[in-house]
Amino acid sequence: MKPEDIKNVVVIGAGIMGQGIAQNFAQAGLSVRLVDLDKQILERSLTQIDENLKLFREFDLLKEEPASIKSRIEPFLRQNLAEATRDCDFIVEAIPEILQPKRDLFAQLDSLPQNIILSSNTSSFTISDIAEGLGSAERIVGLHYFNPPYIIPLVEIHRGKRTLNGAVEVTRDLMLRIDKKPVLVRKEVPGFIINRIQAAMGRETDYLIREGIVTPEDLDVAAKASYGFRLACLGPLESADLNGLDTIMRASEQIYGQLNNAKVPSSVLVEKVLRGELGVKSGKGWHDYAGKSVKQVIKDRDRKLLRQLVLFQASERETFRR
Ligand code: NAI
Repeated sequence: MKPEDIKNVVVIGAGIMGQGIAQNFAQAGLSVRLVDLDKQILERSLTQIDENLKLFREFDLLKEEPASIKSRIEPFLRQNLAEATRDCDFIVEAIPEILQPKRDLFAQLDSLPQNIILSSNTSSFTISDIAEGLGSAERIVGLHYFNPPYIIPLVEIHRGKRTLNGAVEVTRDLMLRIDKKPVLVRKEVPGFIINRIQAAMGRETDYLIREGIVTPEDLDVAAKASYGFRLACLGPLESADLNGLDTIMRASEQIYGQLNNAKVPSSVLVEKVLRGELGVKSGKGWHDYAGKSVKQVIKDRDRKLLRQLVLFQASERETFRR
């Protein structure tokens, strides 16, 4: 299968990630069949895609009318999976992060023709875990998007012990074709690249809050106004080179031994979850969202991120021209 032969994509799971992944493929001109167990979730996801596309148009980021992009997305109920996968070229699994249902789904997809590439958006399992015992493990690829997947450019491509190079390469070329920024994970590790880095930062963040060293409000301000501000245009290693590796090494000698090295989530985080303070979806997390709907918070976030996407794309074009 060549990447340019991929025309029909199936996305299984129309939740937070699946709906955005479907939108992303449709925006790039591919036909998408979006599958879910639940009819209401499918309907809601199509409405959300409409809203997202309106916002993309506001930022002049669409090459065609929202209605024509949307017409390439066809909803299917899970019970019609055989129909949804008929003559498809590429499948993305985006069902909940629970191993057994993922294994069951891949076992069902195992008998599909071998030229179809199967991918999983898992955020924590390895592909070898998911593909265990399957006949078609060679064409199963990890394809890890970041939320919101219709805006954040990166996808991490990872592989299992039995995944063939060809499946990885076609997936990478497909991602380039749809304007994503693919990066290959060269060894099979839980959490891949970015979730490992984020987890390390999250552990220290929770520690700083628990110890009363900083308030949640100030922590977010500090992160956005410093390393967050730099990160969209300067990677951590580029930054380190600019700072001087000798300086970084001396600072690391002082700080590393002082860092939190807990093996379990911090008590401050666990207590919040037990109190039902789950973040935007419950109206309170580290911050208070009383009086704001989830939809509004997401729209505000997306406006900020789309402004950044416009700058990111311009800077990528400039780098490419050099
Ligand atoms: P979600 O819970 O929002 O959506 C999952 C959807 O799958 C639901 O709509 C559910 O009805 C549907 N579903 C469940 N079993 C199904 C089946 N057998 N066939 C068809 N549909 C089925 O979950 P979310 O957040 O979209 O996560 C999906 C995957 O993406 C997980 O593996 C997660 O770890 C990964 N991921 C999530 C990110 C996030 O920020 N939420 C970021 C990156 C990856």
